[in-house]
Amino acid sequence: MSNPAGIDALAFAGPAGFVEMTDLASARGVDPGKYLKGLGQRRMAIASPCEDTVTMAADAAARALHGFDIDPAEIGTLIVGTETGVDHSKPVAVYVHELLGLDQRCRTFETKHACYGAMAGLTASIDWIGSGRARGRKALVIASDIARYGLNTAGEPTQGAGAVAMVVSENPRLLSIDPTRIGDYTRQVMDFWRPLYSKYAFADGHYSIQCYLDALTGARQDAVGERSDLLAELGACLYHVPFVKMAFKAHQRQLEMERGGPLSKDHNESWRLLTDSYQRLAAPWLGLNAEIGNIYTGSLFLALIDLLRQAAESLADREVSLFSYGSGCGATFCIGRIGEDAARWREALDPADQLAARRRLSIDEYETLITATEQADTADQLDPSSYGLNGGLYYVGTRDHCRQYSRS
Ligand code: CAA
Repeated sequence: MSNPAGIDALAFAGPAGFVEMTDLASARGVDPGKYLKGLGQRRMAIASPCEDTVTMAADAAARALHGFDIDPAEIGTLIVGTETGVDHSKPVAVYVHELLGLDQRCRTFETKHACYGAMAGLTASIDWIGSGRARGRKALVIASDIARYGLNTAGEPTQGAGAVAMVVSENPRLLSIDPTRIGDYTRQVMDFWRPLYSKYAFADGHYSIQCYLDALTGARQDAVGERSDLLAELGACLYHVPFVKMAFKAHQRQLEMERGGPLSKDHNESWRLLTDSYQRLAAPWLGLNAEIGNIYTGSLFLALIDLLRQAAESLADREVSLFSYGSGCGATFCIGRIGEDAARWREALDPADQLAARRRLSIDEYETLITATEQADTADQLDPSSYGLNGGLYYVGTRDHCRQYSRS
């Protein structure tokens, strides 16, 4: 029997500029330790007005198809998970469909549930393959988002931008997902939302952390029941990462579930157990999240890229847990298995060169970009070179209410 379906190809793409968290801390009069240690962030990716959810999605998808030698004609479903789409009606996915030159015999749509859209797309694709409807074709699932909370807000240091594209197939090369251990959770809460009239998200920050942890408890129980020994079997734990410290809190919650009670810093022995477990199972794969910031739907899969680029060989054929959380709220916890030959694809999925080519923005430049982005949807003409951009696909303005894209 073949392996269960899962992720066959994976690639990241993001904006050309970033802000150094120490620069932001000094501009906001905050101790840098709060951003670096308290939140665990080093940098955050910032999109210019010419970089949007469509351009990042198309870029990531082209890298996934090309890097893993996948013929675009094999794609029979295209799903873009995003909470920062470019139109109330028209999906980002249909722009991407044209930009990639995919076959017209393709099902194409957008999923939205805050940061959960891509996991919804991944499990829907696995079901599509399992039902037999795929007829040997593959699904392309793209997470693409720009996290915006606004200048001088509590959420500001937890912004970011980027896209992760994954190709989902039977006999996947990178990660198969066990369909019998996928657990779900839903509860209507107002922890984070973005009304139709706002470019910026609203968040009840501390409450959102509590909602995330409650969702982890519920989804994990649905996936694996009351297990007290799951962590001992796993090679890694991957989490939705709105900021790196959140993964620590999530890991603490998993361990508390297994031990049947709260863990406290005041109890040295159990706290050491927690920090050792976190260092082994979660911390090593949070480097990209710390460099890029919150990319909403893609942030769990960014941690997966980080794991595969570093440890695909040592974790080959090992099981890992994945937890996706979307505010509002919806969540999934599932168990995957790293492919035996996943290490062969390290170069194709490692975004190190892209990240090294990014430009550090001064806080003045960053603030100017944020303000300019507010007007970008209605600008007739935007010039990517005025933002130091060339050699890519960019959004260049809106004519007759239609968004225009161009390669420079
Ligand atoms: N040195 C070291 N650590 C410091 C410090 C210093 N000088 N100053 C503060 N800290 C620590 C604090 O002790 C705290 O750590 P703990 O959480 O371990 O206690 C941490 O830094 C953050 O400090 P505060 O809680 O005081 O920070 P804040 O109130 O300004 O806001 C936040 C933090 C709530 C995360 C805010 O950035 C926010 O609202 N972000 C957006 C919402 C969000 O990301 N929610 C996550 C769950 S929802 C989700 O996951 C969906 C999604 O993607 C949005």
